[in-house]
Amino acid sequence: MIEQLHVTNFKAFASAKIALAPYTLLSGLNSTGKSTVLQAIALLRQSQEALTEHDGGLLLNGDLVELGTGQDVLHENYVSEHAEPTISISVRTDSDSYSWSARYEREADLLKLISSADLGNLSSIFGTGFQYLRADRITPAVTYPRSHDIAIRRGFLGARGEHTINYLRHFQDEPVKDRRLQHPHARSRRLLDQAEAWMQDICPGVNLQADAVESTDLVRLSFRFGTAGLSSSNRYRPTNVGFGLTYVLPVIVACLTARPGGLILLENPEAHLHPRGQTAMAALTCAATAAGAQVIVETHSDHVLNGARLSVKRGLIHSNDILLHFFRRGDNGATEIVSPDVGPDGMVSEWPEGFFDEWDRQLDQLLD
Ligand SMILES: Nc1ncnc2c1ncn2[C@@H]1O[C@H](COP(=O)(O)OP(=O)(O)O)[C@@H](O)[C@H]1O
Ligand SMILES: [Mg+2]
Repeated sequence: MIEQLHVTNFKAFASAKIALAPYTLLSGLNSTGKSTVLQAIALLRQSQEALTEHDGGLLLNGDLVELGTGQDVLHENYVSEHAEPTISISVRTDSDSYSWSARYEREADLLKLISSADLGNLSSIFGTGFQYLRADRITPAVTYPRSHDIAIRRGFLGARGEHTINYLRHFQDEPVKDRRLQHPHARSRRLLDQAEAWMQDICPGVNLQADAVESTDLVRLSFRFGTAGLSSSNRYRPTNVGFGLTYVLPVIVACLTARPGGLILLENPEAHLHPRGQTAMAALTCAATAAGAQVIVETHSDHVLNGARLSVKRGLIHSNDILLHFFRRGDNGATEIVSPDVGPDGMVSEWPEGFFDEWDRQLDQLLD
């Protein structure tokens, strides 16, 4: 498990140390560096091979993140001990510390490692069960890609969740073994039934189907609607049902396939969901942590925060296993991170201004 991420001269940060727990929630104002944290981890993953090659380094553009060139990622007000600035990402796990420092090159999209850098063992950080779902995910479509290599062999859902439908099609009969991930109202432990049950928290009566489109390299997702286990309606294409259903499916599958040693990075699991659905996603992401994965969630949702607090109160995750980080701009314009504690009762130790206080602020004005 990653216990601390330290980035230097990387995008939003001149230097930042971010403590990470089994469940970490990143919140705060827009453009304060929350996604930058996830991108730094995704960049290491994306560069996993390149970092071990001769003349290798940080691969800025790939399947997970497209960061541009050196000048895009070098923090504007970089700090440098040497004439040439370096961009560094360091990771401390429960057993080791690793650090990668790359030389800045304005136009390069492969930032070469400084030869003295400690070549850490990335496979111990990214074992099996890595998922990274960006805020810009798959939208409803008639078909989705079918890649045996990515979805089946590597088990990766895609940074936009674009391989989720193929994954679900192939692994639909695999059981969800950890009981904490199992939905109490699911028909069985099968992945498809479990995904359907969690989807039903968002849209009661929804049924899912994922199948191949014959003679093509494509797969298709369809929805039916019914009650009491009866699928009574026609099959609908994703384009003809609510946007949120397709949008949340990768989040649900990523969590249901959580495993010990896994790492799940999620941007805005709440996107396009109604409030109760957002709370359900908090419970599911916490269940993924309970099942042994490390989960880092970027969110703007009070319901995700409160859902996570409830998971602590209910004992699904321990209060020592959750960290809240609130990103805000300090007086000098740089990001500062405030980290309120969560107690065993789910209570939060402090509520800095701007930290999920909008509801109260509005209520005060309404009651004024
Ligand atoms: N090279 C850079 N130098 C300084 N700041 C940067 C650089 N690249 C991005 N940023 C800052 O990072 C912000 C985006 O950070 P991001 O992590 O995406 O924010 P969010 O908190 O909304 O997820 C930009 O608005 C900008 O302020
Ligand atoms: Mg963001």
